[in-house]
Amino acid sequence: MKVLHIVGARPNFMKVAPVMNALKTRMHIVQTLVHTGQHYDANMSDVFFGQLGIPAPDVNLAVGSGTHARQTAEIMTRFEPVLLARKPDLVLVYGDVNSTVAAALVCAKLGVRVGHVEAGLRSFDRTMPEEINRLVTDQLADLLFTPSEDGDFNLRKEGIPAEKIFRVGNVMIDSLVALLPAARRQKQNRLPQSFALVTLHRPANVDDGAILQGILQSLLEVSRDLPVLFPAHPRTRKRIADFGPHDQLQLLDPLSYLEFLAMQSKATVVITDSGGIQEETTYLGIPCLTLRDNTERPVTVSLGTNVLVGRDPDKLRHELSRVLAGQAKKGTIPPLWDGQAGERIAAVLTDP
Ligand code: UD1
Repeated sequence: MKVLHIVGARPNFMKVAPVMNALKTRMHIVQTLVHTGQHYDANMSDVFFGQLGIPAPDVNLAVGSGTHARQTAEIMTRFEPVLLARKPDLVLVYGDVNSTVAAALVCAKLGVRVGHVEAGLRSFDRTMPEEINRLVTDQLADLLFTPSEDGDFNLRKEGIPAEKIFRVGNVMIDSLVALLPAARRQKQNRLPQSFALVTLHRPANVDDGAILQGILQSLLEVSRDLPVLFPAHPRTRKRIADFGPHDQLQLLDPLSYLEFLAMQSKATVVITDSGGIQEETTYLGIPCLTLRDNTERPVTVSLGTNVLVGRDPDKLRHELSRVLAGQAKKGTIPPLWDGQAGERIAAVLTDP
């Protein structure tokens, strides 16, 4: 059986690694890896391939940045001939980025079977580009691999037949489980005893000057209680340069997977608008304050350490003071977040 994986953006890489690894041990599977080039900076892409042990892509579509329509269309246009030439039996798409939906659309039009890894997540907020990508991809997919029970529930409500849905657990946690020991061995120079680790990149938070200023102001307040380490996504760095007060907040370049994992595992608190980091902090038991009003990952709130603080500075202040007083929310690890999700996907694809 020929399986083609297609990835494009940073959060895809830690999801594809465990699936490729698990399929590698199945003799009759031939794997191809396509990188769309949605993320192209070395520190957003290459370094992750190296640390996660992902083979070099067989094809790089080198689409680069653009508006949503342009980027999505470019991925579709460049992926179609690859799909026609390689003729895979199944294409696996990952997560909720523009590369995910673009590839799923091309496959659906050409009648090629698609599997969606990390299916069924819903924020119920259609102003998020990722929510549109999730909805469309799940409608088109033939196999839907969900990380948690809420995913199955959302898909069933949208009319997806139960026999297409496989609850396999969280592939992103597979990578974390595999690489946490190596991350802990990383030398981290000058890491403060306690610190807040911040990431911020959602368009809803960084694209509007007034909103971004408000968030940066709250982070400046945080920095009076705790040193703030803020590895900045290229998009955020550009916006801060455009609008922000940036001299008091020390911005770092994007970190590698191992560096970031090591920092997360040692952080006093993580403040973020990322999806994946809500999951990783839940696994690690580190308090996470999420700068969003909703989450497509509700188990991180119901079971994990995640608290949604939105953009309310008072709420952020209140939750931070709880953390500093040693009263942070305690959590547990959700079922099937155990490092074996990739194996379960491989079993669905290959076991009779
Ligand atoms: C994308 C995903 C988002 C994910 C995030 C992780 C979509 C719709 N969004 O958002 O879900 O959480 O990746 O990082 O797919 N840029 C660079 N170098 C790069 C990549 C991007 O400078 O290697 C800059 C460009 O100016 C680009 C901007 O970042 O215009 C945004 O990149 P894009 O891929 O469009 O979306 P992300 O914000 O990265």
